[in-house]
Amino acid sequence: MDKPHVFITRRIPDIGLEMLSEHVEIDLWEEELPPAYDVLRERTQRADGLLCLLTDRIDKELIENSARLRVISQYAVGIDNIDIDSATKRKIPVGHTPGVLTDATADFTWALLMSAARRVVEADAFTREGKWKTWGPTILLGMDVARSTLGIIGFGRIGQAVARRAKGFDMRILYYDNKRLPEMEETLGVEYVSLETLIKEADFISLHVPLTPNTYHLIGEKEFSMMKKEAILINTARGSVVDQEALYHALKERKIRGAAIDVTDPEPIPSNSPLLQLPNLIITPHIASASVQSRTQMAVMAAENLIAGLQGKRLPFCANP
Ligand code: DGY
Repeated sequence: MDKPHVFITRRIPDIGLEMLSEHVEIDLWEEELPPAYDVLRERTQRADGLLCLLTDRIDKELIENSARLRVISQYAVGIDNIDIDSATKRKIPVGHTPGVLTDATADFTWALLMSAARRVVEADAFTREGKWKTWGPTILLGMDVARSTLGIIGFGRIGQAVARRAKGFDMRILYYDNKRLPEMEETLGVEYVSLETLIKEADFISLHVPLTPNTYHLIGEKEFSMMKKEAILINTARGSVVDQEALYHALKERKIRGAAIDVTDPEPIPSNSPLLQLPNLIITPHIASASVQSRTQMAVMAAENLIAGLQGKRLPFCANP
């Protein structure tokens, strides 16, 4: 019997490809950049399964025009690039990769937080540019992390992992989420507050919400104006959770002290974006989950989801409601 045909929109770690090759016939997009939408649509039309990335737009049109398609497996936990309602209507299960990137993302959130608080990126540039003339009492002063207040917006797996790490810094930890988690408050020593209270009281604000119509531009001009003047914003969630223009003004006009973001809107950030000129902003290229271990596990999970879907079984990690 013929093996099912699968379109994979980028090379994933070998282990995932090896697992798949036993069960399916692979059509692999080998380029560094994602396939253009037309190519994606055309190749998906010939496929029984699709393994895609967050850079692929899997919209209603693509889903409705892919008559053979039986399963979509996303190589990421976030699925905001996929029209999940259209997939569900067509009874196409959508897999994703929760859990295996939680620690990597929480670690990276902390790398950004510490770097912004203690000006690590600026200090490195200062040193390389030959500006280190002597030890000085006021050179490159940053902000204490220990005993400060951390505000976590979105208290799912990653938000909670960020809180666990904050305990070691004796921080006051506030969280906001659309559902309160009393058992976590006890175990992690966190306080549930309103979004407004969190924004007003936190020294560090870290975003961990999925991108949905409700979280689009959750942080905008109004929110920046309520933040402390010394506040630092960290975003490892999705770029458009923050209004980029409002972010620019908040940093430029020093309404807040700084920000460190792993995600932008759009991605990649255009090379002429004014954000790139700001000294009080750290920007990394959406790499919070980029550890060898996480990306390998993501490949395994994405392959398992895809194989299960093609065999008509329940996906081990299914994102459909
Ligand atoms: C995700 O999984 O959603 C991250 O943004 C990339 O790993």
